[in-house]
Amino acid sequence: MHANIVTLPGDYIGPEIVAQAVKVLEKVAEKYGHTFSFEECALGGASIDACGVPLTDETLAKCNAADAVLMGSVGGPKWDGVEASRRPEKGLLALRKGMQVFANLRPCTIHPQLAGACPLRPDIIAQPIDIMILRELTGDIYFGKRWRSEDRTAATDEMAYSEMEVERLARIGFEMAMKRRKKLCSVDKANVLECSRLWRETVAKLAKEYPEVEVTYMYVDNAAMQLILRPSQFDVMITGNLFGDILSDESAAIAGSLGMMPSASLGAGTRGLYEPIHGSAPDIAGRDIANPLGTILSGALLLRHSLGLEKEAAAIEAAVTQVLDEGYRTGDIWSEGCTRVGCTQMGDLVAARI
Ligand code: IPM
Ligand code: MG
Repeated sequence: MHANIVTLPGDYIGPEIVAQAVKVLEKVAEKYGHTFSFEECALGGASIDACGVPLTDETLAKCNAADAVLMGSVGGPKWDGVEASRRPEKGLLALRKGMQVFANLRPCTIHPQLAGACPLRPDIIAQPIDIMILRELTGDIYFGKRWRSEDRTAATDEMAYSEMEVERLARIGFEMAMKRRKKLCSVDKANVLECSRLWRETVAKLAKEYPEVEVTYMYVDNAAMQLILRPSQFDVMITGNLFGDILSDESAAIAGSLGMMPSASLGAGTRGLYEPIHGSAPDIAGRDIANPLGTILSGALLLRHSLGLEKEAAAIEAAVTQVLDEGYRTGDIWSEGCTRVGCTQMGDLVAARI
């Protein structure tokens, strides 16, 4: 097949990790007889430097015309002085909103080879862990009204959700649960927040359409604790934008490193935005030591969800597993007895095993 993919390397380690994922996707294309054309655009700080804004209309239009978009990471100290409305992160949020990718899939599993990198007790991770955090991505406090008093001593961020926004996200969660272990945990703060009460009511209504799915409701504070006390209890977790942001970083500790974590953001069709869940890591940028596996695995999700290439997606995941089996590690997941490799070398190793 032929597919058009827009790449948005972004800032700091972004270009280093995206280059590795592109290399692996090109290898997949060659092996399986596909042609992928890549067009690179600027996002975040890179776009501020080139065009004065973190996301141009032209880039958004290109993303909305592509089959899929692969992103690296945005932001960093270089743009700390930029006014809030034009920060690099604003570009990413505008991109998510502009592509209408409201459902953010953040899978969390432990590669057994990395069990040593997980800070949890061995008996806690002895049970299989396979969690799909499904985070709402285009609503919530991320997109509500913001206000700052003239004297700068008070501020407001508004949290808002509509039934429609909750329902379309929850539906994807139920559909996913049906294909997995038929368990869905809805995370909210319904004992305090009106948005969460709406969230819970909407999920409960939809649950009637999925009698086979076992639904539980959990307050986010308890969910944060349960995730590390007994992570094996979770199958699909659905959450709002802010809670999902926090819980998915927490889940990365279970997986061993933020650098391992891929994500897929989907809307109504198959077009999607794929990005690792980590940030731009300014402290290690330019040294070729970042872990590209989260981005490479995001490339696998791209093949699976946007291009329908399941076999090829699985080939990337198997190649990553093989490289870990062979003992290769970037610094963030390195342990005694393993071979330490850099970002480019890790990309080469994975590509060679496709
Ligand atoms: C993430 C990131 C972003 C978010 C930032 C960079 C705006 O933390 O993708 O998890 O908060 O969504
Ligand atoms: Mg985050």
